[in-house]
Amino acid sequence: MAAAPKVEIAAQGAKSPRTLEFLKSGPKNLLINGKWVPAKSGKTFESINPANEEVLALVAEGGKEDIDEAVKAARAAFEEGPWSKLRPHDRTKYLLKVADLIERNREELAELSSLDNGAPIMGGQGLVTAANELFTYFAGWPTKIYGETSPSAPDMFNYTLREPIGVCGQIIPWNGPLMSASNKLAHALSTGNTVVLKPAEQACLVVLRLGELLMEAGIPEGVVNIVPGFGPVAGAALSNHPDVDKVAFTGSTTTGKEILKASVATLKHVSLELGGKSPHIIFADSDLEGALNYAAMGIFGNTGQACIAGSRIFVQEKVHDQFVEGLVNKAKQHKLGAQFEAGTTMGPVVSKVQHQRVLGYINAGKQEGAHTAIGGGPGPQPRGFFVQPTVFTGVRNDMKIAREEIFGPVAAVLPFKDENDAVFQGNDTTYGLAAGIWTRDISRAHKVARKLKAGMVWINCYMVLDFAMPFGGYKQSGQGREFSNHSIDMYTQVKSVFVKL
Ligand code: NAI
Ligand code: MG
Repeated sequence: MAAAPKVEIAAQGAKSPRTLEFLKSGPKNLLINGKWVPAKSGKTFESINPANEEVLALVAEGGKEDIDEAVKAARAAFEEGPWSKLRPHDRTKYLLKVADLIERNREELAELSSLDNGAPIMGGQGLVTAANELFTYFAGWPTKIYGETSPSAPDMFNYTLREPIGVCGQIIPWNGPLMSASNKLAHALSTGNTVVLKPAEQACLVVLRLGELLMEAGIPEGVVNIVPGFGPVAGAALSNHPDVDKVAFTGSTTTGKEILKASVATLKHVSLELGGKSPHIIFADSDLEGALNYAAMGIFGNTGQACIAGSRIFVQEKVHDQFVEGLVNKAKQHKLGAQFEAGTTMGPVVSKVQHQRVLGYINAGKQEGAHTAIGGGPGPQPRGFFVQPTVFTGVRNDMKIAREEIFGPVAAVLPFKDENDAVFQGNDTTYGLAAGIWTRDISRAHKVARKLKAGMVWINCYMVLDFAMPFGGYKQSGQGREFSNHSIDMYTQVKSVFVKL
C-alpha cells in the first residue's frame, strides 16, 4: 500500500479549500457508467506536482478490463439511449449546464489544472475560460447539424441524414488537460456520440473533477466514461478495442501512428492532432516589438509545451541581431517558479521524463554547434522539473533542435535572406501544424500564407485560437480538423435515404 499523499505540502499555496478537499478525498477512481469505481486490478499510480515532485493524489490505474467495462457502458448508452435519441435542444441544454458549472467552479478547476502540469495559475485560469467557451460553442451545434435533400428523378425523394458515429475513444495529452478534455468531450457530445476518455497519466486530476461536474450536470450514465491509466496499457486497449467506432487522439506523432495502426482491424474512424515544429517568420519590415512579444509567447508560453509552439523562429538577416537581443531580454524577464508563487511566469515541464528529454535536446543543440544566447540548462530550483528559457542562435534547419519537437522552452533562431528562402526553410520539416508571418507588406503576407504548408497561419499575431475556426495539421501534424463546422463532419456520418414515390 502506498502511503497517503501529504496533500498540504504537495499543493502548497492553493487558495480554494475545495482543491484540497478534492485531493484529500483520494484515491481518485474511474468514472464508468455513472459511478466512481476503483480499477479492477486494485492498482493506483501517483499523480505528481511537477513543481515540487510531491504526490498530489493516488489515481486508480485503468487497465484493459476497465476499458472493456467503460466501452460496454458507452455502447449501451449509445444504442439504448438516451443520448443519441435526445432532442437536439436537450443536448444543447446539457452542454450549457456543463459550461455553467465550469464557470462556477472556476477557482478550483484553475488550481487543479495548474497543480496537474505545473502551469502558473494564470495559465490554469485561461484553460477554465477556454473550457467554458468550448462547451458553450458546441452547445450551439446540436440544432444545426443538417441533412440535405437532393434533386432526383420525379418519382424519387432522396435525402441525407447526418448521424453520430457511436462510441468514441478519446486519448488526450497533459499540456492543457482541462481544455483538451473539454474540447474532445464537447465535440462528441454535441454530435450525439458517447465517450470513453483516457486522460494522460501525467495530468488527469482536473479531468476527473470535470467528470464530477458532468455528472452534476445530469449527463446520463454511460455517456461519458473516464479511465485514467498508462498509454501502452489503457490507451492501447482503447485504441485497439473492437467495439470502439472512432478514436480521437491528441499527442505525439509517434503515438498517433500507433493509433492509426490500431484502427485497421475494425476500420475505426480516426482523427489525429499531433506534434509540430512550426516556423514563426519575421520579415525586416515588420512591427518588431509586436513580433518579439508574440515570438516569445509562442515558444515560452506554457513552458514551450504546446503543439502549436513557434519553435523555429526565422528572422530576416537585416534585423536578426536586434531581434535576438530582444528575445534574450524576453527570456530574462521570465521568473521560474511554482504555480502559486507570486510573480511566477514560467512553470516546470510536466515530468522527470520530459525534463530529461528537453535537457537532452539542449545538449544536442550545443553539440551540433548552435550558440546558446541564453539559458541552456535546468532551473536553479533544488526540486521540480524546471528548465531555463533557452535561445539558440546559429541554428541550421538540419540540426536536431530544428527538426524534432522539443516541447520545452527552447527557441531555435534561424536567419533567412528573402521571401523564397523563408518559405523554403519554413516548409523544410515533416510537420505542418502552424506558422506565423510578420510583415507590413500585405500582399507578401497573403502570398506567404498560401505557400506555407501548415493547418493554421497567423499573420501579425500568433497562437490566436477561435473555436469557430478549424484547427489541425498538414503533413505529419495530423488528420482532420477540430473546432468549427469541419469538426462536425469528423464526429458524424452521412446516410443516404432513397424513397420511391
Ligand atoms: P504521447 O503522445 O505518448 O501521449 C499522449 C497520450 O497518448 C497520453 O494519454 C498517453 O497515455 C497516450 N498513449 C501513449 N502511448 C499510447 C499507445 N501506445 N496507445 C494509445 N495511447 C497511448 O506523448 P508523451 O509520451 O506524453 O510525450 C512525448 C512527446 O510527445 C513530447 O515531448 C511532445 O513532443 C509530444 N507531445 C505532443 C503533444 C501535442 O499536443 N502535440 C502533446 C503531448 C506530447
Ligand atoms: Mg502531474
